[in-house]
Amino acid sequence: MKRTVLALQPLLTHEMDVLEQGFNVLRLWESQKPESVIRDHSHEIVGILSTYNGSGVSKRLMEALPNLEIIAQFGVGYDNIDLVAAQERDIVVTNTPDVLTDDTADVALFLMLNVARRAVEADMFVRVGRWHSGAMPLSTSISGKTVGIVGLGSIGQAIAQRAAAFNTKVIYHSRTKKDAVYTYYKDLKEMAVAADFLILACAGGDETKHLINYEILDALGAEGFLINIARGSVVKEDDLLIALRNKSIAGAGLDVYADEPNVPEEMIKMDNVVLSPHVGSATVETRSKMGQLVIDNLTAHFDGQPLLTPIKMAS
Ligand code: DGY
Repeated sequence: MKRTVLALQPLLTHEMDVLEQGFNVLRLWESQKPESVIRDHSHEIVGILSTYNGSGVSKRLMEALPNLEIIAQFGVGYDNIDLVAAQERDIVVTNTPDVLTDDTADVALFLMLNVARRAVEADMFVRVGRWHSGAMPLSTSISGKTVGIVGLGSIGQAIAQRAAAFNTKVIYHSRTKKDAVYTYYKDLKEMAVAADFLILACAGGDETKHLINYEILDALGAEGFLINIARGSVVKEDDLLIALRNKSIAGAGLDVYADEPNVPEEMIKMDNVVLSPHVGSATVETRSKMGQLVIDNLTAHFDGQPLLTPIKMAS
């Protein structure tokens, strides 16, 4: 008999088909009455498919499912899953690292290039015919600048490689010094002072909540740019708005926000920001690989095989 998996959001069509060949999938996002689906199938659900951008998996949801064994997250981030509650119940949690590293690093670079070289504005400048009235205002060079990366995990390292290829000096801040060629800053504020571009590539969650506040932005300075492909929670968004409004930083390139998909009205109107809608992993190729990894983790778990990409629980 097929095991039952509660899918909070869909995978791409092909991967969804594959998932449904192996499992009895409850498509929660299609239901008008999600609470009833959960109640009616509570004893049969042994797995959850959740996504990095959804409501996640709360302790309450886990409590409603007495036989839940595994949460397979579609996404590298898992700050929307209550890991403590999962650990208390010995529920295993997996995510989809590595397969999305390159695409997410690319987004950091396109935001950096876009905001510094005013690419969105340049496109608009041509489209609306402003070129006929004169040249566009000058932009800012990338080459020769210092890129400070917060979080040198796989995505941070992929960003570092790309940034170095643009002839920048790469420095980084993380909880611990890594075995890397880039200069390490234990103190984030000191790194912000040294950086022209501050790129956030750390995990979300309580440990990094509001790591970037007015003090750090002030240290980044009037010629500095903030790039965030990590989580909106890492930045105190009100402080960022003040810094952008007062031009105490030069600009920001943002893929993630405090309350997605709600982006502050004021930010939308600002011309010193470039915005994208949390698209780090949003390519056909990567989303397909992420979906397959979710399926592989679920299959491995129920076949009694080692998980491919389990999340390490605190000991
Ligand atoms: C993730 O998978 O957690 C990322 O935020 C995707 O962009």
